[in-house]
Amino acid sequence: MTGRFVTFEGIDGAGKSSHIEPIAAWLRGQGERVVCTREPGGTELAEKLRALVLGEAMGGITETLLVFAARRDHVERVIAPTLARGETVLCDRFSDATFAYQGYGRGQSLEMLAALEKWVHDGLQPDLTLWFDIDPQIAAERRAQARPADRFEAEDRAFFERVRAGYLARMAAAPRRFHRIDAAQDRDDVRRQLEVALTHDR
Ligand code: TYD
Repeated sequence: MTGRFVTFEGIDGAGKSSHIEPIAAWLRGQGERVVCTREPGGTELAEKLRALVLGEAMGGITETLLVFAARRDHVERVIAPTLARGETVLCDRFSDATFAYQGYGRGQSLEMLAALEKWVHDGLQPDLTLWFDIDPQIAAERRAQARPADRFEAEDRAFFERVRAGYLARMAAAPRRFHRIDAAQDRDDVRRQLEVALTHDR
């Protein structure tokens, strides 16, 4: 018995986070047991690592190792046990974010990331990745209306262009797992796209 593992990805300002809880409620309404979680984070330890990653200046390899350390704790304590109970996991970001942000955004070695991914995941991969794709310029305008920026949100347009290119490359490498959501559409339309993707994936 194994549940399904769904991840939500996209650049900051794409709007994914606001859809996760409502989509979980929709799935629960259909009898699915659903756990919502996020990365970096999702456990007590991983949330502490998140605060460091988002708040403290550090080198790129240190940042990468902390993100994967948080992920390992999250996989062991939350994601794997939940899937083993046959329940659905909806996770706000996972390793595609590390390839996109640390790899393409910051220029960290993709080979290093692939090696860490192999050890940390221990065979686990999302069943479905909902990629909220949006023009980085529109995302920047949305972010400007939101709360104060963290270390990533403060990056410039060129950074988010590289992150977006990273997501595109990840989708090209795993086209069956990825589902692109047009996140420039209005809220209701994005919601419909999510419902279609989650229904077809079942
Ligand atoms: P985010 O989902 O944007 O949280 P919030 O909606 O609360 O701002 O995630 C926080 C940031 O962490 C985001 O800017 C991307 C970054 N991040 C990485 O750089 N690498 C990773 O592996 C993950 C999971 C997140």
